[in-house]
Amino acid sequence: MTRQSIPLDHSLTDYLHAIGVTEHPVLRELREFTAGHRLAKMQIAPEQGQFMGWLARLIGARRYLEIGVFTGYSALAVALALPEDGEVVACDVSDEFTRVAREYWHKAGVAERIHLTLQPALYTLQALLDAGRHNDFDLAFIDADKPSTPAYFEACLQLVRPGGVIVLDNIFLGGRVIAPQDNDPPGVHTMHAFNAGLAADPRIRLSVLPMGDGMTLAMKL
Ligand SMILES: C[S@@+](CC[C@H](N)C(=O)[O-])C[C@H]1O[C@@H](n2cnc3c(N)ncnc32)[C@H](O)[C@@H]1O
Repeated sequence: MTRQSIPLDHSLTDYLHAIGVTEHPVLRELREFTAGHRLAKMQIAPEQGQFMGWLARLIGARRYLEIGVFTGYSALAVALALPEDGEVVACDVSDEFTRVAREYWHKAGVAERIHLTLQPALYTLQALLDAGRHNDFDLAFIDADKPSTPAYFEACLQLVRPGGVIVLDNIFLGGRVIAPQDNDPPGVHTMHAFNAGLAADPRIRLSVLPMGDGMTLAMKL
């Protein structure tokens, strides 16, 4: 028993990975490849990928919307948990990053169920709304540019079905979000205000996990 989440040092993190992460071999290969990338820290932690796949299975997800793909780790973790006729709509702006993603999605045999759009995600989300895909997604993951998080969240609230879940990553921003300073980037101020409003949002049921850099789960009511 403990009344507070305990911090994870390297040994405990290794232990967590050893006992709690069962990665598909291609997912592991992708994680190992991404570890050598200059922006490797943008990828979610393996226990987060494990959790996302588990959550997708738990809620019987068929359609997953991802905002922020990078080299494709989170998209692959969820795609592997979807049924054969499942669909991933993945949004990013970088051809360089997502070229890696496409290679590994293909290798894992799930490329056909992932539709990647390369343009600012707000355009893709608007296009989905224009196409009438309200309440159509079971699970959404917001893991991109922080200043746009409130707009992504509002769009996801329309696109995710009641009972579906919106997950947001990096909600702690390494702790800077507690008391933003004037010289912090705009995203820190945005996330500070955004986080503060969630608990009272009557449209969702909230849970915040101290996993990775903080992960918010918002179940749409
Ligand atoms: C933190 S990374 C995503 C990590 C990924 N979820 C994973 O598990 O590896 C953020 C991604 O957001 C993308 N991004 C930044 N601004 C964006 C925008 N306006 N629209 C869509 N994607 C954007 C970046 O290109 C980058 O690949």
